[in-house]
Amino acid sequence: MAKQSDIIANHKGQRRPDNFFRTIARLLSYYKNCMWALICAILCILVYSAATIIAGYMLDPLVKVLESALEDKAGIHIDEQTAKYTVLLIYMGALYLVGALTNFGLNRLMLQCTAVVMAKLRTDLFDRMQELPVAFFDSHTHGELMSYFTNDVDAIREMLNHSVTQLLISTASLTGVIIAMISLSAPLFLIVLVLGTLVVLITKFIASRSGRNYVHQQKALAQVNGYIEEMMEGQRVVKAFNHEKKVMADFDVMNEELRHVATRANTLASIMGPIMNNLSHIFYALTTTIGVLFAVNGELITKLSRNSSFDWSKVGVEGAVLITFLSFIRQFSNRVSEISQQFNYILLALAGAERVFKLMDMEPEIDDGAVTLETLEDGSRVWRMIDKDGNEVTVPLVGKVELHDVDFSYDGEKKVLEDVTLYAKKGQKIAFVGSTGAGKTTITNLINRFYDVNDGEITYDGIDIRSIKKDDLRGTLGMVLQDTHLFTGTVMDNIRYGKLDAADEDCIAAAKVANAHYFISHLPEGYNTMLYADGANLSQGQRQLIAIARAAVASPVVLILDEATSSIDTRTEKLIESGMDKLMEGRTVFVIAHRLSTVRNSNAIMVLEHGKIIERGDHAELLRQQGKYYQLYTGAFELS
Ligand SMILES: Nc1ncnc2c1ncn2[C@@H]1O[C@H](COP(=O)(O)OP(=O)(O)OP(=O)(O)O)[C@@H](O)[C@H]1O
Ligand SMILES: [Mg+2]
Repeated sequence: MAKQSDIIANHKGQRRPDNFFRTIARLLSYYKNCMWALICAILCILVYSAATIIAGYMLDPLVKVLESALEDKAGIHIDEQTAKYTVLLIYMGALYLVGALTNFGLNRLMLQCTAVVMAKLRTDLFDRMQELPVAFFDSHTHGELMSYFTNDVDAIREMLNHSVTQLLISTASLTGVIIAMISLSAPLFLIVLVLGTLVVLITKFIASRSGRNYVHQQKALAQVNGYIEEMMEGQRVVKAFNHEKKVMADFDVMNEELRHVATRANTLASIMGPIMNNLSHIFYALTTTIGVLFAVNGELITKLSRNSSFDWSKVGVEGAVLITFLSFIRQFSNRVSEISQQFNYILLALAGAERVFKLMDMEPEIDDGAVTLETLEDGSRVWRMIDKDGNEVTVPLVGKVELHDVDFSYDGEKKVLEDVTLYAKKGQKIAFVGSTGAGKTTITNLINRFYDVNDGEITYDGIDIRSIKKDDLRGTLGMVLQDTHLFTGTVMDNIRYGKLDAADEDCIAAAKVANAHYFISHLPEGYNTMLYADGANLSQGQRQLIAIARAAVASPVVLILDEATSSIDTRTEKLIESGMDKLMEGRTVFVIAHRLSTVRNSNAIMVLEHGKIIERGDHAELLRQQGKYYQLYTGAFELS
């Protein structure tokens, strides 16, 4: 399994995959749903390459016909030669037509394949993200996670759409061109090979220099993008504190750094094109010169080498061969430069694919709970499990939650909860109070198993929650999280999120319990009003009311309200309280509140400090003890 730190490290602009072949093999496995299209595409590549090479090769007989026509000054064979010439031209045209058609087909097939592959890849990546534990999201910023879907997935798409096709065409054509060149003139090809190696070496040198600069550019770009994202999210704070000028100045520094490194990286990359071009021109000129020397001086060479045992006459080439050969040189150098260019893109995209695969390989949230929830015929619900003797037993779902000596730390170092023990019977309301950072939210995070305890145990109806199937456990819990989140959709959709099969009437009833009905009815389109961007068109308190309605609609057995009423005015809160009393009837409720009026009527109040329960009892008892609760109640906190 990949470690999170690996992934973060790789995101700092790595350009090459660690395991080239494994990544390719895994990517290829995505083609299994479009295998036929892929096979047809490969056939197209072969036909395309063969057609264009043979068409190029036909220059040789064409020139020969032309030469003999020129020699035939009397024009005795003119008809015969014209006919030959026409046939050759028709063949050549037909071959180029086949080439064009197969090229078109190839691109269509590859586009289709890529679309299928990308859809599957995105689904796999997204699904895995949904399955990752909450702890994963604690250690990754949104920007970082988004870059998998934008940068990496985009790079893979580009590669599959263009680079792979181009690379395959270029390689197939290059092979054909090499065969054609060798068959035309092996000595000339040898010269081409020597000069070609020289060009490749020079290109490699430049590419390695520009590669290093490119890494710097990626880092600077990530920094600039991260800053933009953060400042957009915090735009209101920036404005409220008049920090616009400072933010602009900081941005300028980063942007200038990016300009600097980008110029350096791109200068090298951009001179590569002209250098390659000029080298290929020089290369062309040199081969032409040597070829012409061979052609013109074929006889001379033969004379000069009379004493040698090697038959130098083979080195000489005919004019028609030379012309054909020269046309292949162009193709040869084009193909080589295409291959080297595409190869770089492919490496870059494979590095992205590797990052994506590493994320997909991350351990998902484990759910090895064997205890499941079952609804009996009479509508009551029971936990079904196998006892020690292997017999199937059922335990009625009641909603009794107990924490026994629970210890917990988020990072394995700093203890956030220590020896927390508490009992909540069915229908009881347990409140947590304590200063900020005391560990109140953490307790609820453990009850719904966003995290697992380090020591001790939490039981639900007497069953260790780690042995309960997570979906079933969470299905019986109703949560109003400390930071409410509303999704893009109507108010009704957002309430129904608590129970997807709830009827409109159930949602409205839940909104009434949460006392949200009044304000929703006054929205422009009532329950059908669209909410955007986490409910930005609502007030904080209104968002919380919807969140309470969402928890209420599922009629959970255990209700957890984390600061559920913190942004609601005290008058509305009183109204909710009466509704909530109805909602809480027969349920186990955990409430976390800074406002003591909310917790006053709880059966038991736990006062937390630095992760420990320092006082417990009901409101009257705690007041009598004159401890921390008494201080909180009489001093630091609002009374209402
Ligand atoms: N995801 C996390 N990763 C690491 N540490 C965390 C995480 N969430 C909370 N903590 C730490 O755990 C401690 C308890 O946090 P918790 O959220 O439980 O406090 P709280 O009592 O709910 O506070 P508040 O009243 O402000 O909501 C804090 O010191 C906090 O820094
Ligand atoms: Mg909290």
